[in-house]
Amino acid sequence: MIELRDIHYVRVGTRDLDGAQKFCTEIVGLQAVERTKDRLYLKSDARHHTVCYFDGDPGDHTVAFELKDWTQLGAALERLQSAGVPCGAGTTAEAADRHVEAFIWFNDPTGNRIEIVARPHDAGKRFFPSRDAGLIGFGHVGLCTTDPARDQNFWMSHFNTMISDWIGPCPLLRVNPRHHQMALFASQRKGIQHINFQVAEIDDIMKAWYFLKSQDVRIVFGPGRHPTSGGNFVYFEGHDEVIFEYSNSDRNIVGDLSNYRPRQFPLHPTSFCMWGSKPDIAEFRD
Ligand SMILES: [Fe+2]
Repeated sequence: MIELRDIHYVRVGTRDLDGAQKFCTEIVGLQAVERTKDRLYLKSDARHHTVCYFDGDPGDHTVAFELKDWTQLGAALERLQSAGVPCGAGTTAEAADRHVEAFIWFNDPTGNRIEIVARPHDAGKRFFPSRDAGLIGFGHVGLCTTDPARDQNFWMSHFNTMISDWIGPCPLLRVNPRHHQMALFASQRKGIQHINFQVAEIDDIMKAWYFLKSQDVRIVFGPGRHPTSGGNFVYFEGHDEVIFEYSNSDRNIVGDLSNYRPRQFPLHPTSFCMWGSKPDIAEFRD
């Protein structure tokens, strides 16, 4: 089993790095920590960065997880290779670009590119938000899948992934006690479905809702509350139509896991929002 510690970063292509920087700093509240002619690194917590925009196809997305034991990176690659999974080792230059000591990559059955990183760089400086959005860190991604049952099986077969809950056929997955670091949502496409940042409290959700409206940002879901994680949330559409989410989900699954039973919610808007907000997001509709 490949043991993952947590989700670590996302990489997203764009033809407009200036636009991405403007939205992520002025609206989302991330800190731009490094900018080159073809890279933009954005920080949300103690890590060097949690979002990297690169000059490229806006549909080109990568999600990275940190390996729990950095000595097992080679063994993880061998396991994926022997299972016939498209995969490879990152070069020294590619690792430097990601601000990690080493990494491997693979494609999940949908074709999503996933990276597993070893010894990712922390930042010497603390997070200094570009606006007071209440950000406390990178939380999770929604990832598109063309076959939720197949991809759930893939993750359960090779990784320390656990199912926290299902909405319809779509699993909310965790590799640590936080309710989910990744949710697989049925779609006709591959790629990131939404990027979540955690905020401190419900006040931050509601302040964001008023702020986003004042800035004419398209709110696509919420404010509301997830019955799964228990978090309050608001989703909004950002640069290149990437969907961002703020939530304050604090549900941890701890204790005797043999007694934990993932709950099955129907594929219905009430499973995404117990307050009655209706999602304007294709993958959240029944
Ligand atoms: Fe989410």
